[in-house]
Amino acid sequence: MPYRRKFLTRAGYTTLSALLTMGFLQKDKQREDQSTNSIAANNPIKNVNSPLRQLAAAKGKRYGTAIDGDFLRKEKDYADLIARECSIATPNGELKWAGTEPEPGKFTFESADAIANFCQKHNMTMHGHTLFWHLSKPDWVPYPPTLKMLERHVNGVMGHYRKSPVLKSWDIANEIIADTPDGTDNRYGLRRGVKPELIRDLFLIAAEVDRNKKFCLNDFGIEGATWKSDHYLKMVEYLKNNGVKLDWAGLQSHLWFSKNYPFDEKGFSSVLKRLKDLEVKPVITELDIIIDTPFPDSIEKLDKMIADSYKRFLELCFAGGVDTVITWGITDRHTWIRYPQWMPQKYKDNPEFQKFLRPLPFDENLKPKLARKAIAQAFQ
Ligand code: G3I
Repeated sequence: MPYRRKFLTRAGYTTLSALLTMGFLQKDKQREDQSTNSIAANNPIKNVNSPLRQLAAAKGKRYGTAIDGDFLRKEKDYADLIARECSIATPNGELKWAGTEPEPGKFTFESADAIANFCQKHNMTMHGHTLFWHLSKPDWVPYPPTLKMLERHVNGVMGHYRKSPVLKSWDIANEIIADTPDGTDNRYGLRRGVKPELIRDLFLIAAEVDRNKKFCLNDFGIEGATWKSDHYLKMVEYLKNNGVKLDWAGLQSHLWFSKNYPFDEKGFSSVLKRLKDLEVKPVITELDIIIDTPFPDSIEKLDKMIADSYKRFLELCFAGGVDTVITWGITDRHTWIRYPQWMPQKYKDNPEFQKFLRPLPFDENLKPKLARKAIAQAFQ
């Protein structure tokens, strides 16, 4: 999915200040209370080095990450970091169709359950990603799947988590809006072959299986006034007008900033405003930030630009009613954008560019970056 978001960093090229204080990763495992508001009242937290989950909870908000089950099993430092910092997590691939129903009607939940158990142990909630997507599906599933296939899949997967103490929300559909106008054959901008009625029925089936979860329509490229956001909002409106339960608008927020791309702050705020009017809560589901070429002349400056971009973006989000922020991974060690399969061609062709792919709050060694501090400050 080699898509590029066109945003301008507002980051200035100022000097990097001392990055981090000692003892950052101390295991002060004081858990926030279930009730975030009581924390705000009883335990004001002022230190940016406090776990992000606590800083968020103090404001009635949540911070989380996508989790990869393999790394969770193999890397204790990765697991410890997530437990310390996060109050919500999204399985990276374990709940996708290929992960849950590899053969028709044969369901498997071992890997997803392992993440659910981790969440339970660490008092985190889990966001279910995803029941419907054009990628990461077994070859026997066409796109779009037939209604019969969808019924069986949604019953099998949502049914398994109906009584889950941690899974509280679902990306019912993911990335249904076409990447560009030539990828659609309908007025809602849905990917070619997908009919709005099918998406409506998918949500209706989901509501029959388990309407106690939050239902999310997740997509990328809607963080500004674009063809995509326009059609995404049309689809939200269509679903709301057709009696569908739709609670959350999942704004993925895989953001590309560059001094060459203007960040459409006004457009983004108008998307948030429109969602408010439609009574759908915006949730940041897959945030990461890349500073694209031309690069600054040092990694320190790049990290500062990324941090400033996080802060500015999150401030707009919080002003627009966002209370849940999930980054797509927590450490640059495992960011999807460094996988050859997903890395944009320009970075593959120029290996020296790859060190500039630093989109997440912690570096490869799990040391907190300025982006982490920026997220903390935005929550504060
Ligand atoms: O599990 C196999 C492993 O056994 C094998 O050794 C390895 C070799 O490449 O591949 C592993 O599977 C990969 C999997 O990620 C696990 O990391 C798949 O090839 C790879 O296609 C898969 O990519 C994921 C992608 O979605 C497709 O499912 C990325 O990690 C994941 O970050 C990405 O996430 C998407 C969201 O779901 C939707 N929004 C965009 C976002 C980024 O592309």
